[in-house]
Amino acid sequence: MKVVIPKETANGERRVAVVPDVVPKLKAAGLEVWVQAGAGLESHHDDSAYQEAGATVSSDPVELFKDAKAVLKVQPPTLNELKLIPPNALLISFLYPGRNPEIVAGLAIGHVTALALELLPRISRAQTMDALSSQASLAGYKAVIMGAERLDKIIPMQMTAAGTLAPARVFVMGAGVAGLQAIATARRLGAIIEAFDVRSAVKDEIESLGAKFISIPLESAEGSGGYAAEQSEDYLRRQRELLSERVAAADIVITTASVPGRKAPVLVTKEMVSRMRAGSVIIDLASESGGNCEATVPGEETVSSGVKIVGVFDVPSSVSVHASQTYSRNVSNFLLALTKGEEFQVDLQDELVNASCVTHSGEVRLGFGGAANGTNSSEGNQQ
Ligand SMILES: NC(=O)c1ccc[n+]([C@@H]2O[C@H](COP(=O)([O-])OP(=O)(O)OC[C@H]3O[C@@H](n4cnc5c(N)ncnc54)[C@H](O)[C@@H]3O)[C@@H](O)[C@H]2O)c1
Repeated sequence: MKVVIPKETANGERRVAVVPDVVPKLKAAGLEVWVQAGAGLESHHDDSAYQEAGATVSSDPVELFKDAKAVLKVQPPTLNELKLIPPNALLISFLYPGRNPEIVAGLAIGHVTALALELLPRISRAQTMDALSSQASLAGYKAVIMGAERLDKIIPMQMTAAGTLAPARVFVMGAGVAGLQAIATARRLGAIIEAFDVRSAVKDEIESLGAKFISIPLESAEGSGGYAAEQSEDYLRRQRELLSERVAAADIVITTASVPGRKAPVLVTKEMVSRMRAGSVIIDLASESGGNCEATVPGEETVSSGVKIVGVFDVPSSVSVHASQTYSRNVSNFLLALTKGEEFQVDLQDELVNASCVTHSGEVRLGFGGAANGTNSSEGNQQ
């Protein structure tokens, strides 16, 4: 069965869905791996590395996609790419169906069975396929590095003959996968860290990483499937008042709060930004779903009241080697779970397939991934 790994075409996307290291694993399952020429260049894997691993490299898109039984991608296909995917082929990728209705309709018309990685339920069987987590973890690390780079101060405390330099203060808002990795990274650099999340259950994890948990004992809730529930507007307002002080004290604020399937909540208002010291930095990892900071310009890096606000997209792409390496494991583990001898088995009764399958047999599946009730889709994500 032919599996195709195209070169990603989305603007700024530097990852590749499968790195050469993973090719032998797919081949061992009896799969024939085809890679588009240049697909791995942005993550420093040249065509010869794929060939040595046993893949066939083609620069002709028609030849590449011909008779493909599965296509593995990072970003949703473009309308042009869609035309190349043969009917009844399997597509595994980030898809964000709510943001891409035209692509979803095209996938259905083309009779592609499309599985959205971001819709996989967070059950233990799916842990090795959890691309949201693998990419969020890298984004959390990189957020601290981006903040440190932009800050006109050093992070750790330094005691020198010329006096003592105080350590930088980092405030992490949203302590999911990205936030916890940001805390761990900032800690290694010697920062003083505070962190906040609506889910008080993360308090112990925050503290075990060496940060102080900012407690706001108001209504708090965890939605189904380990995801956060949306908070009421009243809660968010009171939350903003309480957090304003902590934001003003920080040198670097890293926001990672998202609510799957919805616009990101505003945690840092323009007024709060104006209270920060000039030269402080905000890294808004939720920028792709609108941003946690009111002053964030999605996709851009700006300055507001002397505060640098970074809302760039696709942060995992900036560490494309490790992002591709981990993504490859996630996507191939999912594909291999569906590989049964001489066919890919799409069993809609299977919890993983049922939750992630967006189109099948010419139809857009209603309520895929719980998106209809807003519990388990990840429209807002990036990564
Ligand atoms: N296999 C698994 O069981 C599994 C895998 C991955 C993640 N998880 C868990 O799922 C949870 C969410 O992970 P994620 O990183 O994907 O989440 P996410 O990207 O959806 O959100 C990031 C964080 O923002 C928080 N948040 C949302 N609204 C907020 C607000 N108004 N104010 C402050 N914080 C807010 C969320 O609670 C979450 O911790 C974590 O506890 C994580 O450990 C479980």
